[in-house]
Amino acid sequence: MAEMPVSQALYDRAVKVMPGGNTRTTVYMKPHPFYASHGSGCRLTDAEGVKRIDFTNNYNSLIHGHAHPAINAAVRDQIERGTAFPMATELEIRFAELLCERVASFEQIRFCNSGSEAVMNAIKAARAFTDKPKIAKCEGAYHGAYDFAEVSLDPTPESWGNADPKSVAYTKGTPQSVLDEVVVIPFNKPDEAERILRAHADSLACVVIDLMPNRAGLIPATPEFVEMLKRVRADTGILLVFDEVITLRLGFGGGQEVFGIAPDLSAIGKIIGGGYPVGAVGGSAEVMSVFDPRQAKPLLPHGGTFNANPVTMVAGEAAMQHYGRDEIARLGALGDRARDGITAAFDESGVPGQVTGLQSLLRIHVHSRPLSDYRSSLMSPQEKTFLSAVLRHMRDGGIFVNERGVCSLSTPMGEAEIDAFLTCFRGALNAAKNAPQASE
Ligand SMILES: Cc1ncc(COP(=O)(O)O)c(C=O)c1O
Repeated sequence: MAEMPVSQALYDRAVKVMPGGNTRTTVYMKPHPFYASHGSGCRLTDAEGVKRIDFTNNYNSLIHGHAHPAINAAVRDQIERGTAFPMATELEIRFAELLCERVASFEQIRFCNSGSEAVMNAIKAARAFTDKPKIAKCEGAYHGAYDFAEVSLDPTPESWGNADPKSVAYTKGTPQSVLDEVVVIPFNKPDEAERILRAHADSLACVVIDLMPNRAGLIPATPEFVEMLKRVRADTGILLVFDEVITLRLGFGGGQEVFGIAPDLSAIGKIIGGGYPVGAVGGSAEVMSVFDPRQAKPLLPHGGTFNANPVTMVAGEAAMQHYGRDEIARLGALGDRARDGITAAFDESGVPGQVTGLQSLLRIHVHSRPLSDYRSSLMSPQEKTFLSAVLRHMRDGGIFVNERGVCSLSTPMGEAEIDAFLTCFRGALNAAKNAPQASE
């Protein structure tokens, strides 16, 4: 990595007052994180004054890139009127109406402040509705920071067991009782998953599913897996909770519209905040009634000082109004152009590799194993080092990508940005291939 004196100086100050130097493990990088100065459209300038095309978009949350004029105008107007009130607002009703009109399975919705909170609230709602304690989730899928959602996020061949996936703690100190309440299923293995779900059906409130889990490889759910979920829901009453925190962008009505399956509840976040902190749970009025405070204490009381924050509501409304079917189709075509170009670059370079994802999301893999789930996508230490080197060369070449090789597109991008990405990627592959030691 090129010398970054400003960032190094900031980091030296940061480590004194924050463990590891920041409050967000995700953005940590050796020898120090990148520090942002400002962004505009799809370009992001760091503290050294270096401008790059941003393919990380605050971890897939900025569908319109940085400082979108319509979002800024809505926010400016709102901050003049006040930013937080001890009262409900019409703004939250307007935004709730917009989202319920878009997503077919949303009859009702409630807002919170992050995707993690949205998943937590969806899980708690499923438990409250069914009066059952357990949840099921897919091995390797990331659903935010709630204890139960974190189980088996990053198991290794040593910990994942020989037969069915085991419940493996992600953080030190996870109570055994949490592990006991989480049933882990393999993604995209419908027969095994169905057998496990049916065996636990009496105690399962819900199965939490991301239809294209990014940490588990950004591999789309197969039609067989989707059909299995429908069948198990119909036969057993286990609720389907979809984590659409990332996948909502895949279709006008979310990933669920694209994959043709309607869950009972969905957790959403990221793009619906227009760049501001957000989360929401949407679903059928019947299940969402657990939040209803009209009769005494609700089955699931749900408060939050900043829930449905007015600034987030207006930013989110502007963001979603500018993300219609035309934008989705245009980004989908750009995503195909990027995936085709990456595949061609791997072919030309002779480096083993492939690309997964759909629409405006893609993930680069530096191996040619058949990909279906978390285990097949898990990188070896050598693959991690090589990918890291490729991504570092890309950042040096003017493309900002995160350490996992997950990229997302934003509406300010056009073919020129995709082609710049591909030119840089070809160069980075060759540089990493020809100087493997330098990548250590
Ligand atoms: C699929 C998925 N679910 C949940 C979350 C948690 O969202 P947040 O970071 O807003 O808490 C994320 C965040 O990356 C995510 O990717």
